[in-house]
Amino acid sequence: MCGIVGYTGRAQAAPILLYGLERLEYRGYDSAGITVNSGTLQTVKASGRLANLAALTNNGADLHGNCGIGHTRWATHGEPTDNNAHPHVASSGQISIVHNGIIENYRKLKDWLLARGVAFQSETDTEVVSQLIDYYYEGDLLAAVRKAIYKLEGSYALGIVAADAPDTIIAVRKDSPLIAAVTDGEAFIASDVTAIIKYCREVIYLDDNTIAVITPGNITCYNKYGKVQDLTPVTIDWDIEAAQKGGYAHFMLKEINEQPKVLRDTLAGRIVADAAGARVDLSDAGLTPEVLQAVRKVHIVGCGSAYHAGVVAKYQLEGFARIPCEVTLASEFRYSSPVVLPGTLCVVISQSGETSDSIAALREAKALGVSTLAVVNVRGSTIAREADYILYTNAGPEIAVATSKAYSAQVAAMTLLAVALAEFNSGAKRENLQAVLNDLIKLPDLEEQILSDISLVQLAASRYFNHSSVFFIGRGLDYAAALEASLKLKEISYIHSEAYAGGELKHGTISLIEPGTLVIAVAACTKLAEKIESNIKEVKTRGAEVLTITTSSLSKNFTDCGDILIEIPDTHELLTPLLTALPLQLFAYYTALNNGCDIDKPRNLAKSVTVE
Ligand code: M6R
Repeated sequence: MCGIVGYTGRAQAAPILLYGLERLEYRGYDSAGITVNSGTLQTVKASGRLANLAALTNNGADLHGNCGIGHTRWATHGEPTDNNAHPHVASSGQISIVHNGIIENYRKLKDWLLARGVAFQSETDTEVVSQLIDYYYEGDLLAAVRKAIYKLEGSYALGIVAADAPDTIIAVRKDSPLIAAVTDGEAFIASDVTAIIKYCREVIYLDDNTIAVITPGNITCYNKYGKVQDLTPVTIDWDIEAAQKGGYAHFMLKEINEQPKVLRDTLAGRIVADAAGARVDLSDAGLTPEVLQAVRKVHIVGCGSAYHAGVVAKYQLEGFARIPCEVTLASEFRYSSPVVLPGTLCVVISQSGETSDSIAALREAKALGVSTLAVVNVRGSTIAREADYILYTNAGPEIAVATSKAYSAQVAAMTLLAVALAEFNSGAKRENLQAVLNDLIKLPDLEEQILSDISLVQLAASRYFNHSSVFFIGRGLDYAAALEASLKLKEISYIHSEAYAGGELKHGTISLIEPGTLVIAVAACTKLAEKIESNIKEVKTRGAEVLTITTSSLSKNFTDCGDILIEIPDTHELLTPLLTALPLQLFAYYTALNNGCDIDKPRNLAKSVTVE
């Protein structure tokens, strides 16, 4: 989604803005622009990649001034043209703004302004905001912004500058993330930390309905009643290297390879030993034994891969912890009149913590009066701040649009929740808990083992990369893993793919299987091995080529029914999705690579979906 960066201080603003926009590229965008304020507003915009903007400004050297705002736009209202790119400068030339979010009542406001003689330059909802601020502007920018936002409906993070206030940025936030940071003699705004971590480690997450006045070395925040707010900065515990490629060809490949470390970080401090052995301790999330004992049902919401992590968790929570569990797409939750009974723990899974649909689902669950748990990666994000309990996934910054390490950290965190609920809620036998935890502790080493030899995955990707349609099948937890594997393949390689529960094939989909169709079978669940074996034979008989992902001890069942067989090491059945994920992510990666795709920034996609 769109990205915002702003700077005011003693340095030239343009190179800092371009650097920040480059760091925000991963969020997804189709045009970019900057305004530098030196008493007059100099605005340059370009559709396409940021390199176009850098070329037009001589890498920023052609724009002089110490204050400015920049933006990467992911088009919603109006095509991705130079004209529709942000910043949007009002007709007077006095006000320039950048905006993330959607102004839902922009048509009404546009008509209102047109009737008052205001001429519009673009097709965007955003231009309404710059023209409205300009309409109210009489030399006091803060007063004009207050009047304008009073009229806005929708979501917005805004960065605003005025020609005659050349060292000031006004930042406004409602339902769209925005941070601010101050250093000695300088100040910044940004959509996320990656844009400014090079300059400062302490950032302020603006609250909803905050207006911040940013000047060199100073930030003053006001709440919606105009009262000064004291917002506590959060210290960022990772550095710029964590958000760089570190020698890998792509962020996605780096992030796939980081999974053993991430798993160790997700588990750290949450598996403790007592006299009877290991147990899960989620007190850092506020999930005490008393809180867990009160849970009667778990209702999980999330989008995309986070939803798939929820599907894995449903199998774990019901199969192992024996707790009823429902999983709902966050985008459906609030419109489906959900029946959420007392005693339900609503779990919102989100890497970014800023996904608009997931925020809405969280708020809906709170309005329904149940407890909420955020399973979130980004500290200080909206979902983390609004939920009753927070289980951080500790995956570190994830830059590739296609999630890998953040997804597996979500699965690991939910596995811990399942084991904790099994102990404190369902009274599972200690030896059963021990069996899972003993294997969970060993899992990072097994992940390293898988990552140390990926030759078979590369072979499979080189053999199958030119297929135009792929079917993934699995049963139980393997079906949950297949859902995520299918999304991974389609989002980065643009190959059509679908995931099916193996038993469903005969109910329709098998009609699509013809000689040469690629079927990828995930077959790591021992108790369902014979069932998936039959499903593989059904497609093989009809000419499909089959790539099978199975465990060392199950592989003998599949030697005669697949074309390529990839083995993962044996582990507790509950944990297999954490291992099958690795070859499946790598298969998607190498298939996309062989197809020459833009792996880290797939077309039309955004890292963080902050609009509904
Ligand atoms: O930040 P979130 O976890 O809430 O994001 C949810 C989805 O947008 C995200 O998982 C998306 O499906 C990924 N691009 C998949 O790789």
